[in-house]
Formats: sequence, C-alpha cells, structure tokens
Amino acid sequence: MTAINNTGQITVIVGPMYSGKTTELLTYVEIYKLGNKPYKIFKPVIDDRYAVKEIRSHSGMCEKAIPLDHSQKALEYVSNEKAIFFDEVQFFDEGLSDVAKTLRKKGKDIICAGLDMSFKENPFMTTVKLMGLADKVIKKKAVCHECGEYKGVITYKLSGNESEIDVGGMEKYIAVCMDCYEKFRSKTD
Ligand code: ADP
Ligand code: TMP
Ligand code: MG
Ligand code: ZN
Repeated sequence: MTAINNTGQITVIVGPMYSGKTTELLTYVEIYKLGNKPYKIFKPVIDDRYAVKEIRSHSGMCEKAIPLDHSQKALEYVSNEKAIFFDEVQFFDEGLSDVAKTLRKKGKDIICAGLDMSFKENPFMTTVKLMGLADKVIKKKAVCHECGEYKGVITYKLSGNESEIDVGGMEKYIAVCMDCYEKFRSKTD
C-alpha cells in the first residue's frame, strides 16, 4: 500500500529581534524559488517599518509580500502555491493557526517567522499557537547588545511607550541575554 503524501509541513521560526528570523524565512523562499515552485509571502499590514508591500531583514535582504489586515484573507489569495510564508506573525490575529491548519491539509508548506516574546517577557499568543501545531520549530538567538555574547533570547525596549504592539527598530529595541535583561529591568523597576 502506498502512503498518501499530500499534507504540507508547518515550520515556525522564532526568537528575539535581530536573531535572523526574516533572513531564515528568506532562505526558505530561495529554496522554492530555485525549485520553480510557486509561493506567496504575506505580512501583517501594521508592519510598515520599511515598506508596506515587502518584508526586509535588518541586513537589507527583501522580497515582495502581500499585506493583510486579517489572517483569513490569506485563503482568498491562495491557489496553486507549494509554499505560503508569513513574516511578523506576532502581529496577526490568533486565527492564523486555523489558516495554517487549512493550508497544511491542502498540501501547502507553511513557513512562519515571528517574535515568541514581547519586551515584557510575555508570549505572543499567535506565535505560541503556531509553535504548538508546527512540524518544526527553529528558535534563533541574537548577539546580546550589552555583553556581546551569542545568548540574546529576548528584546529590551530602550525608550518610548509601554505598548507591546509597537513597530520599530534599533532606535527603540535591542536584543539581550537573560542576565543583561534582568540587569536592565532591575534598574528601571
Ligand atoms: P529578525 O527578523 O529576527 O529581526 P533579521 O533576519 O531581519 O532578524 O536580521 C538579522 C541580521 O541582523 C543579522 O544578519 C545581522 O546583520 C543583523 N544584526 C543586527 N544586530 C544583531 C545582533 N545583535 N545579533 C545578530 N544579528 C544582528
Ligand atoms: P523583527 O523581529 O523582524 O526585528 O521585528 C519585530 C517587530 O515587532 C518590530 O517592528 C518591533 C515590534 N515589537 C513589538 O511590537 N513589541 C515587542 O514587544 C517587540 C520586542 C517588538
Ligand atoms: Mg524580521
Ligand atoms: Zn548579555
């Protein structure tokens, strides 16, 4: 009896800012591109850090992407793709996990990237749900901006408001190891 092999795979890439999540996602994009396999990239419309219709890494790599204000709308764009990409998943509604399940059943590979934790050390629930469903979870690290060790697992917010949804880059956020995070927090608490 031959096995039915129509189900796709869900891969979730998580970590703090600057840990290479978008870079890793773009590496997967290249794999489908080289294999001439159709794909689509989605992003949340709220992410206007560089441009609304593209995703971009901190080192400048970029690709065109479709901005969405709701995860369900991804299904309206999907047809013959082999892979569906979502960057910045922490900004999507929690329904993204159901969308990922639907797409996996249709035989699509789903590759997601996003923050697992806010600067307040709270999990982002959309990312957490996807991690639970995933066939593969890749947890990335950054170089700690304070001590220089390759142990950066969380993002620290330097200034501005207390909002956990706040688009920005180096002017607002740094990646730190847990020891440096505690040191910073104890100074401000
Ligand atoms: P993410 O999507 O996780 O924020 P990116 O893939 O956009 O990460 O960016 C990764 C790039 O960020 C690295 O290749 C490097 O050039 C740059 N970078 C800047 N600061 C750091 C850091 N502290 N640790 C690692 N990479 C950093
Ligand atoms: P990045 O992980 O690709 O660098 O992008 C993370 C985005 O999320 C960036 O726009 C800053 C934002 N952000 C929040 O909104 N809340 C947070 O707690 C953190 C750490 C980042
Ligand atoms: Mg990114
Ligand atoms: Zn450190």
